[in-house]
Amino acid sequence: MVDSSTVQFIRSSPRRLLVTGGAGFIGSNFVRYWCHHYPQDRVVVVDALTYAGNWQNLADLTSHPQFRFVKGDICDRSLIDNLLAAEAIDTIVHFAAESHVDRSILAPDAFIQTNIVGTFALLEAFRHHHPSQDHPIFVHVSTDEVYGSLSGDDPAFCETTPYAPNSPYSASKAGSDHLVRAYYATYQVPTIITNCSNNYGPYQFPEKLIPLMCINILLGQSLPVYGDGQNIRDWLYAIDHCRALDGVIHQSPPGETYNIGGNNEVKNIDLVRILCKLMDELAPNLPVYPSDRLITFVKDRPGHDRRYAIDASKIQTQLGWSPSVTIEEGLRQTVQWYLANRSWWEPLLGEQYQAYYRQVYS
Ligand code: NAD
Ligand code: DAU
Repeated sequence: MVDSSTVQFIRSSPRRLLVTGGAGFIGSNFVRYWCHHYPQDRVVVVDALTYAGNWQNLADLTSHPQFRFVKGDICDRSLIDNLLAAEAIDTIVHFAAESHVDRSILAPDAFIQTNIVGTFALLEAFRHHHPSQDHPIFVHVSTDEVYGSLSGDDPAFCETTPYAPNSPYSASKAGSDHLVRAYYATYQVPTIITNCSNNYGPYQFPEKLIPLMCINILLGQSLPVYGDGQNIRDWLYAIDHCRALDGVIHQSPPGETYNIGGNNEVKNIDLVRILCKLMDELAPNLPVYPSDRLITFVKDRPGHDRRYAIDASKIQTQLGWSPSVTIEEGLRQTVQWYLANRSWWEPLLGEQYQAYYRQVYS
């Protein structure tokens, strides 16, 4: 939560938020965070409930008086127009996206549709919406992948690093970022772009590296590490991402961009070994022990970015944000969450998921 005694607020509560993609991984962590810290704010979630969206992620919020869930597509202009007007929205926090790189390689179409066309529809709707509240804002939640790939000794990505996306996913996010920027420059739609590094934590869909490894260890299945396992990602606990967005929403002027990162660069193979150690310690009766015996190097992801690293000094200096959860603590909590919430992830591994898994891994 933003410390009101030390920071300059541009936007104060109560606010009226439309959160797109709020039933996904980061979106649901954000909605829970927001309802807890700002209970007087209206929080309307619009989510299409694709394979990655899960109503269960928000089930504990149904009794919250200011929370509303709407199942719908961000590409549906009339739905969005109606929601903005009926709910007098002054703040859009835009998470909705197709988010998985491997799926974008198999089938890019949905990525162009949701990430580019969907963002365009939201921008158009917000451009024609005139909230009565002061300081409306559209926060576009984007990714560090738009900057492309670093080699070992390159400096970390900063806000002025040129875009060089390498996957259909990152290209579609880059396209959406350009639209968001253009709507500020051309129409003065009050937008802010955030580019964040890899998130981890509770409610992350099983296809992503950390949940996939945790679940496969529990099931005694092989742990597929792409290529030589030396690719590096900069990991951030999802709640710290939400805290950063809190600072952006309350404190940032429109037209800004912020890089958000955990300052936690870890090689994939080292991360998988840490997860194995944690599972060996915390999980009773693992089918294969020690679980690192399950590690298998598999064919590399096409266009696989070698290294991401974020220079987060702008948000640290201007908004006073820094990560609060260490990677050791965050990974331990995440492993414990997947251990304690088998009833959440088991139903997600049905035939649709198995078909996807076979396509990528066999
Ligand atoms: P996710 O895949 O877990 O969730 C995406 C959500 O968007 C789902 O609930 C899905 O149902 C919804 N959605 C998809 N298409 C939609 C549509 N057309 N209309 C309405 N809803 C739709 O994604 P995530 O990992 O939580 O990522 C959220 C956002 O943060 C994305 O924009 C992503 O690019 C960005 N991001 C993610 C990470 C990360 O590490 N996961 C890091 C940086 C930025
Ligand atoms: O950097 C931010 C991005 O992080 C977000 O924009 C994306 O939405 C999010 O999915 C994530 O992208 P990555 O491609 O980095 O995440 P993923 O979990 O898919 O993979 C992390 C690393 O692990 C990557 O180098 C690929 C590797 N990997 C992944 C899987 C699923 C494996 O080695 N084996 C696997 O089975």
